Amino acid sequence: MEDFKGKVAVITGAASGIGKALARHCVAQGMNVAIADLYLEGLSALAQELETQGAQVVSASVDVSDMAAMQAFAERCVAELGAVSLLFNNAGILQVGQTWEHTAGEWEKILSVNVMGVVNGLTAFVPGMIAAGMPAQIVNTGSVGSLVAAPGMAQYTACKMAVRGITESLAYDLAAAGPHIDVSLLCPGPVSTPISDGLLGIAAGSEESAANVRMMEEQPDFITADECAARVFKAIRERRFWIFTHPFSEYYRRNSAAIADGINPVFTDVVFDEGL
Ligand SMILES: NC(=O)c1ccc[n+]([C@@H]2O[C@H](COP(=O)([O-])OP(=O)(O)OC[C@H]3O[C@@H](n4cnc5c(N)ncnc54)[C@H](O)[C@@H]3O)[C@@H](O)[C@H]2O)c1
Repeated sequence: MEDFKGKVAVITGAASGIGKALARHCVAQGMNVAIADLYLEGLSALAQELETQGAQVVSASVDVSDMAAMQAFAERCVAELGAVSLLFNNAGILQVGQTWEHTAGEWEKILSVNVMGVVNGLTAFVPGMIAAGMPAQIVNTGSVGSLVAAPGMAQYTACKMAVRGITESLAYDLAAAGPHIDVSLLCPGPVSTPISDGLLGIAAGSEESAANVRMMEEQPDFITADECAARVFKAIRERRFWIFTHPFSEYYRRNSAAIADGINPVFTDVVFDEGL
């Protein structure tokens, strides 16, 4: 997709971080947006901000893990805004800990949001996007963890590797059933957002949360959510399947080569090719 003006974008997890920055970029390109989240204070502040800039906005309290709620959201988006051109399945949560320590309930929670949330987004929106027949783009949010596992991250890695598999299959399926729809897997490196608030017991929207994000912004490896969104839009224009926000190609190449050669996994921190 290259022409965004007047088109419709849907963003889940839009009230914070990367989702909020994507919604702002969509509106800056002249798009109308449907934004969904469970953090309602952040969502209504964003809706107000975007409407002030002249966008039509559908704002909805939707749990992405709830299929019926996602279906109702999709119907409302199309009824109020028209056919969807850009779908960002972005909502996600982070959980860390030793592989054997997570409870069944914790597994269910993270899988229902990070994996089924993406699946529900696809189930709710893709049939309408195929039927509309207009050029469109789906961006599912994975992570560096979609390609490489890390210690203490079994749950997150399981989810993000699943999203990678789903997204690659989706691209193959749509190449046959909906060739007007491009598909991307967004694999962000470190982005300064409040994603770790839940782990740290920090309230969403608090001064502590903002201070934590500012601290991340000072780290050399982090990019801001706004910079992440700018890189995503560049990749969309270039019709890239793999959206890498950071230059990790040597790191990925080394890991893929080790698998192909049957070498046992040895974890190393991500290695940057060059500066950001
Ligand atoms: N920040 C990073 O460094 C980073 C790196 C790789 C991948 N990601 C991924 O990017 C995506 C966005 O993360 P972020 O960093 O902007 O985090 P964030 O916490 O700032 O934003 C995530 C948003 O999703 C919402 N959300 C959570 N559960 C939901 C649910 N069940 N239904 C609807 N909304 C829900 C939250 O309320 C929040 O507003 C996630 O999928 C995350 O895994 C982030």
